Amino acid sequence: MKILVVGGGGREHALCWKIAQSPLVEKIYCAPGNPGIAELAECVHIGADEIETLCEFAQAEAVDLTVVGPEVPLTMGIVDRFQSAGLDIFGPDKAAAQIEGSKDFSKSLMARYHIPTAEYQTFTDHAAAVAYVRERGAPIVIKADGLAAGKGVVVAMTEEQAIEALNDIMLDKVFGAAGVRVVIEEFMSGEEASFFAFTDGRNVLPLASSQDHKRVYDNDEGPNTGGMGAYSPAPVVTEELHDLIVKTIVRPTIAGMAQDGCPYRGILYVGLMIKDGKPRVVEFNARFGDPEAQPLLMRMKSDIVPVLQACARGELTQDAIEWHDKAAVCVVMASGGYPETFEKDLPIAGLDAAARIQDLMVFHAGTRFKDGQIVNSGGRVLGVTGLGNTVKEAIDKAYEGTALIAWKDVHYRKDIGARALNR
Ligand code: AMP
Ligand code: GLY
Repeated sequence: MKILVVGGGGREHALCWKIAQSPLVEKIYCAPGNPGIAELAECVHIGADEIETLCEFAQAEAVDLTVVGPEVPLTMGIVDRFQSAGLDIFGPDKAAAQIEGSKDFSKSLMARYHIPTAEYQTFTDHAAAVAYVRERGAPIVIKADGLAAGKGVVVAMTEEQAIEALNDIMLDKVFGAAGVRVVIEEFMSGEEASFFAFTDGRNVLPLASSQDHKRVYDNDEGPNTGGMGAYSPAPVVTEELHDLIVKTIVRPTIAGMAQDGCPYRGILYVGLMIKDGKPRVVEFNARFGDPEAQPLLMRMKSDIVPVLQACARGELTQDAIEWHDKAAVCVVMASGGYPETFEKDLPIAGLDAAARIQDLMVFHAGTRFKDGQIVNSGGRVLGVTGLGNTVKEAIDKAYEGTALIAWKDVHYRKDIGARALNR
């Protein structure tokens, strides 16, 4: 088979790495890819959101299956375009991708199908939104309805912070059209976890559990980021809780989408808040998590390609995925200053030394080639992912890797996986 992976981050590097192990695959293309991916796939200079060009490329190269990493092409309708050209593609179509693309869409879906989540109301009128905040009090959560590159959520600890967020989104329109509607939500306390399931629109194939680290600094301090590290499995998700998540959240969501006439195919990402053994939905995403994909795919024993193809074709019959009986921990090495501004094009040292370590993968996220060197080009630069017999061993393995790698102003958290150890 020839496979095209769309995207160029750590998640897509992990996908290419896993797909490359399949005996079914003879060739992998990645658009646009990155220097790490270039070791496994032919990178093509097409942006992830250039849907027409990607479709022409897939037709010209007779690509058998396209796998979409990021949310933006999904919400733009890449799946609809490929399907109308008769091409197999893994991911939800434009209608189904609204589960991530519109918070109001996903909240109203959850309300209709009694899926446990925070109470909410949606507003288009600023004065009404402010009045609601005054009535409910803080803490309270303000969310721009549309995609805002991970910055559209404000967890406000005071009414003033909440109103400031409403002013930014609704009056100053900092997220443009994504902020025309605003969801105001009850604050949930508890422990977060990420849960993923493959689905063909009807059948559901859950993955192992994982946990992200969203805050930029150790001890979950500082602003939210795209994710500073992840591990799998997540001990907070016991077997009992796993079954409860599938039964009360994943299955009713997939059934509800089908019932509403927009069946969801691809991988469903459920962001969870867990308290007293009960899961509630924080958000849905229409794609694999990044960095969660990195530890998850390193632990996955089954061939991923038949699963991706079956989801794309609406023919998922497999009822279990085999996992390596190991833990995996991914430490994200970021540019100094991230998630704010940072210097780019700084040469990265130590990649060759890290590549020689067993049970360690350095997934590239924000890197590029410049003058024959690999340099940083994004906020999250590398996902250094270690495998071990225990979480402790996997943590040690990942940090053995980070110790070898350096560039000017690099920063990364030193406590990835600590919460799993404390349990
Ligand atoms: P989201 O973009 O929806 O994932 O939100 C980003 C982060 O904000 C989540 O990972 C949570 O840490 C936090 N968050 C979102 N909604 C809530 C909520 N209702 N209660 C508490 N925290 C939340
Ligand atoms: N790790 C968070 C995300 O992929 O959205």
